[in-house]
Amino acid sequence: MSARVLSVPARLEGGRIAADMPRAEIASRVMERGQIVVLKQAFSDQDATAVRAAVADWGRRVATAEADDFRGAYHRRRAMVSRLQQAPHVFHDYNFNDLDALEPDLQARLRSLFEPLRELYADLTGNPVGFGVPEAGPYVHPQLIHYPAGGGFFARHWHNLMPQQLGFIVSLSQRGRDFRNGGTCLEIEGEVVDMEVHQGIGDICIWRYDHPHWVTQSDLSDKFDWASDAGRWVATFAYFDPYAPAA
Ligand SMILES: [Fe+2]
Repeated sequence: MSARVLSVPARLEGGRIAADMPRAEIASRVMERGQIVVLKQAFSDQDATAVRAAVADWGRRVATAEADDFRGAYHRRRAMVSRLQQAPHVFHDYNFNDLDALEPDLQARLRSLFEPLRELYADLTGNPVGFGVPEAGPYVHPQLIHYPAGGGFFARHWHNLMPQQLGFIVSLSQRGRDFRNGGTCLEIEGEVVDMEVHQGIGDICIWRYDHPHWVTQSDLSDKFDWASDAGRWVATFAYFDPYAPAA
């Protein structure tokens, strides 16, 4: 295992993510020491699977969006090249900018995942984040991303360090059981770290937000089908102002 990847046992205790490493140390290893911290099984397989299933079910009942509105709940199938960074990508994302407005069952499922992440994120970064869309400024964009079997991927790109500081990638499916291959790669001080084998279902990958990164392509020998749930699912916790001028 790359010395850059630190696996730390973790668990949910009373709705809070507890880990066998002090939070100040997690923050300093990620932000100052060029490491990636993986909080192992912060969420149970059962809970991660339930969130994934609830969101996939919602996606089957709601028409896909053609554009991002950054304010409500919507999902998009993307097969394009991003405008600014020219990063090709094929994935299906599910965006829940206003948790309060969601139907109760789905909202409860999503909060079981995103409330513990919100508390952890606020503690690690000092950003006093809540959910909901403010009048102005950055806010949290709870998101699930599905990289379909048979060709889901996301080419190399990067993000501004601020205001996000650090990112979470939570695995919501299990390699070898729910998907065959594919994972996040990050480049840190010239070294490529491939997270594919380091993350199991329920694990939180914590990484410094300005590392260039990409998502490797799922096996092309599988049939690609937008309507299928097959493939790799992750949750992310983006914090940005969609109306800020692009850097
Ligand atoms: Fe990214």
